Amino acid sequence: MEPRDIEGDLTEILIEEEQIRTRLAELCRLIETDYAGRDLLLVGVLKGAVMVMADLARELVHPITMDWMAVSSYGSGTQSSGVVRILKDLDTDLLGRNVLIVEDIIDSGLTLSWLLSNLKSRGPESVEICALLRKPDAARVDIDVKYLGFDIPNQFVVGYGLDFDERYRNLRSVGVLAPHIYS
Ligand code: XMP
Ligand code: MG
Repeated sequence: MEPRDIEGDLTEILIEEEQIRTRLAELCRLIETDYAGRDLLLVGVLKGAVMVMADLARELVHPITMDWMAVSSYGSGTQSSGVVRILKDLDTDLLGRNVLIVEDIIDSGLTLSWLLSNLKSRGPESVEICALLRKPDAARVDIDVKYLGFDIPNQFVVGYGLDFDERYRNLRSVGVLAPHIYS
């Protein structure tokens, strides 16, 4: 593959690396206060949440443990169906634990809504959500996000863990993919 500037494949950068860093630090201060004196298990949703998990976990001045889940929505195309299949389950028993789900993006909300009730059924002390991005105009179910990075327009975005066809995850900012990439 030719080496090239992947930012050239974007029409627009929505959120710069520095804005993400600043916002995550703010969220970490809230999390530290809310979980003071309590155990905290971060549950990352693969693969999109890898970057936000790595930065959030290292910014937190709080003892944490981390675990990962991989899920896939049944259904065709890019639309989430709400019917979710677990591709990789947690290694951790959630009984009595304080769980914070770490997600890249809330689009329709259907995936998280399913995940939330799945994890709550495992007997945790608490389950909350931290998501870097949310598309309010795409919401099909109400999701109570305790820690939110940014609301964004209803456009397909890539970067900072988010992919198009597995590419652009390593972009440091979040941007809108140019139409010529799709065709
Ligand atoms: P729902 O609709 O269930 O879907 O909230 C959430 C999942 O869909 C993926 N997703 C995106 N991935 N750019 C991406 O790269 C986007 O704009 C986008 N919108 C949704 C993502 O995996 C998320 O967890
Ligand atoms: Mg995801």
